[in-house]
Amino acid sequence: MKILLVGSGGREHALAWKMAQSDMVRELIAAPGNLGIAGEPKCRVMRVSSDDVQGLLELAKIEKPDLTVVGPEAPLVSGLTDLFVKNGFRVFGPSSAAAVLEGSKVFSKELMRKFSIPSADFEIFSDAERAMKFVDSKRFPLVVKADGLAAGKGVFVCDRREDAQGALDLIMKQKVFGAAGARVIIEDCLEGEEASFIAFTDGVTVMPLASSQDHKAIFDNDKGPNTGGMGAYSPAPVVTSSAHKKIMDEVMLPTVKAMSTEGRPYIGFLYAGLMIKDDVPKVLEFNVRLGDPEAQPLLVRMQTDPIPLMLASLEGKLCRESIKWENDASVCVVMASQGYPGAYPKGKIITGIEDAEKLRGIKVFIAGADSSSDGVVTSGGRVLGVTSLGKDIPEAIQKAYEGVGRITWEGAQFRTDIGRKALTKS
Ligand code: AMP
Ligand code: GLY
Repeated sequence: MKILLVGSGGREHALAWKMAQSDMVRELIAAPGNLGIAGEPKCRVMRVSSDDVQGLLELAKIEKPDLTVVGPEAPLVSGLTDLFVKNGFRVFGPSSAAAVLEGSKVFSKELMRKFSIPSADFEIFSDAERAMKFVDSKRFPLVVKADGLAAGKGVFVCDRREDAQGALDLIMKQKVFGAAGARVIIEDCLEGEEASFIAFTDGVTVMPLASSQDHKAIFDNDKGPNTGGMGAYSPAPVVTSSAHKKIMDEVMLPTVKAMSTEGRPYIGFLYAGLMIKDDVPKVLEFNVRLGDPEAQPLLVRMQTDPIPLMLASLEGKLCRESIKWENDASVCVVMASQGYPGAYPKGKIITGIEDAEKLRGIKVFIAGADSSSDGVVTSGGRVLGVTSLGKDIPEAIQKAYEGVGRITWEGAQFRTDIGRKALTKS
């Protein structure tokens, strides 16, 4: 088979690395891909942006992929799947009608309310003054969220009234997220520990991946502004077998059923971002794709070839499949540019990637790095993820940081506490 993979981050490098190992895959083209993907067997990259849905269709008409796999949310929300299917191509990823589950927080909150899927209580506002008045009447902390896609920056957890007023001002008056901020959600702040629960689904059957946990804040101990994710590990002990059962019965299966009932059948990866307290899960958000960086530790632990699972999902036959995992644990530590998640310099020379990969059980997934006449240089905020496999989380942490210790560039930053939360439970 020939695969077209859309995207350019660490998640896509991990997907390309895993899919290229499949006996079913003859060739994999990534658009736009990255330096890491270009170096994997069977893989090549084509410089078409993942946001350029028309350009991707033109590429598909030339390359004729047997299956297209979409990494990020934006092309799904803007209708890549619908356009490709209309032109006779198979895509693993939801239609735009189903991707609205991530594309509009108002949609997803209303769906959860209608179908009694556990989540924080909320109100929706399209008028800034009314939103401000509501905030005046509320207890703190509370959470203000822009409705639409905001690259992970549209959520504000507010400890004080002034923070909430500031968030509303940014979203509704200064309109920093444009139309994505035309409506806001104001919701109760949930307590507990976060986990990522991701599954394959064919619209009826839900086949969960192993559990994982992201680290969203830039600094140790979850301090500082949120990022795309500074590291992840799998499995996540906070997802006990009791929590797992509740997540399946109260969140994943009801959500997939609700989407069908609403005439928006959901096929693809479904990701629930959860807050878990005393084994009780509540949904923070849905994503319509794999998490990044969660994909990295998940895919190094996945023993099963994902291609048959994707094909079975498209054929509505996922119930016939099964999935196997390494017993080993995995940890991914993201190394980022100085200044990220704010402005950051590019072009810093990176050393030590090959040295790190010489360590047993280490794989470096590239996100924002490129080749230049000076060698490998930084080109993004999140630059790479050092991902380990170890017999348990402590060993996986130790290995990942050994790998991190071999890689450097001017201004490189990373968290030193990835995986620590898992240690308090094991
Ligand atoms: P979201 O994109 O909706 O997952 O929000 C990003 C981050 O904000 C989450 O990973 C949480 O850390 C935090 N967050 C979002 N909603 C809530 C909530 N209702 N209570 C507490 N924290 C939240
Ligand atoms: N790591 C969080 C996300 O992919 O949205």
